[in-house]
Amino acid sequence: MNIDGRAYRTIWVEEAHGAVSIIDQTRLPHDLVVVALATLADAARAIKTMQVRGAPLIGVTAAYGLALALRHDASDTALAAAAATLATQRPTAVNLAWALAQMQSALAPLPPAARTKAAYALAARMADDDVESCRHIGQHGLAIIRTLAVQKTAGAPVNILTHCNAGWLACVDWGTATSPIYQAHEAGMAVHVWVDETRPRNQGAALTAYELGCHGVPHTIIADNAGGHLMQQGAVDMCIVGADRVTRNGDAANKIGTYLKALAAHDTGTPFYVAMPHSTIDWHIGDGRAIEIEERDAREVLQMTGRLADGTVATVDIAARGSPAANPAFDVTPARLITGFITERGVAPASADGLAALYPERLL
Ligand code: MRU
Repeated sequence: MNIDGRAYRTIWVEEAHGAVSIIDQTRLPHDLVVVALATLADAARAIKTMQVRGAPLIGVTAAYGLALALRHDASDTALAAAAATLATQRPTAVNLAWALAQMQSALAPLPPAARTKAAYALAARMADDDVESCRHIGQHGLAIIRTLAVQKTAGAPVNILTHCNAGWLACVDWGTATSPIYQAHEAGMAVHVWVDETRPRNQGAALTAYELGCHGVPHTIIADNAGGHLMQQGAVDMCIVGADRVTRNGDAANKIGTYLKALAAHDTGTPFYVAMPHSTIDWHIGDGRAIEIEERDAREVLQMTGRLADGTVATVDIAARGSPAANPAFDVTPARLITGFITERGVAPASADGLAALYPERLL
């Protein structure tokens, strides 16, 4: 998608020297900074510190992280050790484990001398596949938006609420939750996005609003607590969120606060969709109770970072010194609160049968 009229992806290879470039998301929206990852340690740090974040992008970064590691040592031991290092950087998004498993099963049978080139090629294919998946998610979601648009008075926008950043910055391009929105916008439809700020790290205010703004999509940032009220007022036509891990029965882990939005949507009869690619489905877990929820640093709750009047970016305390804080980073929305999944293969009910109908090969 576009920044200042230039099309970007979130991750790409510098052909001259093989380093992997990323947009440092800890610096957005104040500074657009591209960082080069040259080593396994660089890739691991980028995932851990959330220079890259969002389930699909974490997976693709890990795939490239293996390629970077193999440049220095392509032995069996090094491959296994690099995958183990990358796998432990963040626990909740299953795309990380999925990407590493794909890479390892393709690379391990190859002779070490052939592994590095193959790893770059596989990671590039994974990135391209993610772009295609997200594009298809957008097409299927666009059909839902079109249905809602015909029920609106002429010219009135379809109002879509989203939580966290499940946009192109969380993927390689398009995004999951935002792909239907971008495609509706590009088709000339009137859409408007309610952007949950998404405390404590503010991915909505800092990232989703930034990327929608850069691409010219009308949007309004709201405090996380405002969504229920807006749904009661009839100001939200649908919610679309992303997911970090969807279990076999259709429970969906996503950024903390998603569950509360789903409850409000259920109470008000607002359609609540979860958009995700196949790489976010964990076929090994029966339901959401088994999902590991990442507990992050309390400082994310106790402090905020922003731009001061003089242009400098600073971090300030927002709570009384010494107050403790808890920071669970994800919650699980039960399948019964989800209207449907929007995937690259189409829209399905949030249930074991719904997922199995979309991915019948997983039943074999
Ligand atoms: O902690 P984050 O910023 O990595 O959390 C991201 C989310 O929860 C996204 O909504 C999710 O990964 C879907 S990304 C398309």
